Amino acid sequence: MEQPRAAARRRPPAAAAAPAPPRILPLLFLLTLALSSCGAAAASGAPVGEDYVRPPARNSGAQRKALLGLFPWSKKKTSSSASDPQQVHVSLSGEKHMRITWVTDDNSVPSVVDYGTKASTYTSSSHGESTSYSYLMYTSGKIHHVVIGPLKDNTIYYYRCGGQGSEFQLKTPPSQFPLSLAVVGDLGQTSWTTSTLNHIKECEYDMLLLPGDLSYADFMQHLWDSFGTLVQPLASTRPWMVTQGNHEKESIPFFKSGFQSYNARWKMPYEESGSTSNLYYSFEVAGVHAIMLGSYTDYDESSDQYAWLKADLANIDRKRTPWLIVLFHVPWYNSNFAHQGEGDSMMSAMEPLLYAANVDIMIAGHVHAYERSGRVYKGGLDPCGAVHITIGDGGNREGLAQRYHNPKPFWSVFREASFGHGELKIVNSTHAHWTWHRNDDEEPVKTDDVWINSLYGSQCIQDSSPEFRKILMSP
Ligand SMILES: [Fe+2]
Repeated sequence: MEQPRAAARRRPPAAAAAPAPPRILPLLFLLTLALSSCGAAAASGAPVGEDYVRPPARNSGAQRKALLGLFPWSKKKTSSSASDPQQVHVSLSGEKHMRITWVTDDNSVPSVVDYGTKASTYTSSSHGESTSYSYLMYTSGKIHHVVIGPLKDNTIYYYRCGGQGSEFQLKTPPSQFPLSLAVVGDLGQTSWTTSTLNHIKECEYDMLLLPGDLSYADFMQHLWDSFGTLVQPLASTRPWMVTQGNHEKESIPFFKSGFQSYNARWKMPYEESGSTSNLYYSFEVAGVHAIMLGSYTDYDESSDQYAWLKADLANIDRKRTPWLIVLFHVPWYNSNFAHQGEGDSMMSAMEPLLYAANVDIMIAGHVHAYERSGRVYKGGLDPCGAVHITIGDGGNREGLAQRYHNPKPFWSVFREASFGHGELKIVNSTHAHWTWHRNDDEEPVKTDDVWINSLYGSQCIQDSSPEFRKILMSP
């Protein structure tokens, strides 16, 4: 395999993401961080990694009810009043702004959000837009999108949707490190999902990242509504930044194009980041530049997505955002039997560009299990490559992907088929603490735990610069 840069820089496998604390951080800080981590049980004494045998997944409450329902396409009433806000969730919308999204059954409710930093005292007000869609026999409620701001960093805001109803509150992310990100993929709406969400709720985090497969509605549109209701307690309080998976497609040949429900309900800041599609976009938070890519839209070198990605990468200032993180749905480094090889064509098209841009971490879902690689590029270990994390284990109705290829590939550091979630605590421009928490008998058990060094300030950035410029200049 051709690896010109890899050959020149190869070093022992786990060196770039070694499970050792950074030398420069005092022991006291490590202790504080460990104590503040979600109340997770210690890993000692718990079965670890691929040897762990977990009980079978439980049945899905909402999904099973839907299948048994007489009219599964119809909308279910989920609020006491038709004008009450439902399914409230928030997302970043450019610098110092956030988008509030909610649904009402009453079409006359205005798309307005009143907000302020004191409870029940609304000193500002923003108007936005609304949409709705029909899908077979289902018609959605009025879906409101309102951008509020400019907002102060790291501040709690109280807000009210549509000029009435309950008060919600959110916290804006910090503008500087430390930054804490919760990560979960392939969420669904089962009792396992509920466990995962309860565990995330226990964490102190600033934002949630979701690399695809949200509701598992799978054509039954009212399951988008029940999903919105399920996640509202978390998604109305911290920004949820998501990208799409295969379960968001819901396309019907010659009748329905894909992603209609997803795009209507989960509008992300694509316009704010120069993209023409809600299926790929970027955002910046604290010192992180995050890119959300689409595994199910064109990605080859002649595609709009690839052209947008080049332009987005060219504008990154690593002094301002030392960390570069990319999320998409279908993993590129996967040693599970499930979805084996599905990410190969996207990897072939985009990995050279992302490698030249010195991406630190790539996060995917799709495979219902957890896996973390060393730093890799073109199938081999490379200290200038990205750490790849597959985390499609949020708790969906399809169960776990239990079968792995053996022996474990040399690039795979940790893998386990359990439901759970991850946390990425970015401490400063060079160090981040990644943990993966398995749902174990309702307890979040911290099972994988590693410090990751950023590529910022490394020789990798200087060495890749000519290749990066060459790719950017190519037609
Ligand atoms: Fe998927």
